[in-house]
Amino acid sequence: MRTAICPGSFDPITLGHLNIIVRAAQIFDRVVVCVAANATKTSPMFTVEEKVEMVRRVVAPYPNVTVEVNHGLLAEFARKYEGSVLIKGLRAASDFDYEFQMDLINKRINPELETMFLTADQRYTFLSSSIVREMAHYGGELRGLVPEEIIGVIEAKANTQRG
Ligand code: COA
Repeated sequence: MRTAICPGSFDPITLGHLNIIVRAAQIFDRVVVCVAANATKTSPMFTVEEKVEMVRRVVAPYPNVTVEVNHGLLAEFARKYEGSVLIKGLRAASDFDYEFQMDLINKRINPELETMFLTADQRYTFLSSSIVREMAHYGGELRGLVPEEIIGVIEAKANTQRG
């Protein structure tokens, strides 16, 4: 069974992430969405539990997609799934430099691990989680940026954080 691992911080998951996950699910037997409990990313908007809950909600319609949390190195996590590959979305040339570096470090840790790239859907090339966080902070329209079923959760969180 061929497994794709779609990793990310998902703070929060966007329609761009979901587009990559769904396309990977059409190509691979199974997709594991790996939510990084990033120790290095400061002041996330959501807790890991909240991020996982949102990802689970939006991938629920896809039977071959599951969600896990990873507290360690991604390249070590991937060992759990023999022959798995990492799937990343590339939005612009600027993503490539970073992803190239990530692939090299991941291969140092786990030389068997391959990374494959899907080009981002043109509707979402401008999109990132920080754009969504900023829009939410200022009460902007989130429709078209994140899946409909999590808009309420994001707005509620932004409201509490605004105080
Ligand atoms: N659509 C929309 N946004 C996308 C996207 C897509 N297709 N692909 C990436 N992004 C955005 C994210 O929204 C995020 O935006 P933000 O910076 O505005 O919040 C940004 O790109 C970075 O994505 P992120 O989800 O943070 O992932 P990453 O590429 O930085 O890497 C992990 C995340 C999961 C690979 C990484 O943090 C990890 O696994 N860490 C564990 C430790 C490890 O193994 N490190 C590597 C070796 S040192």
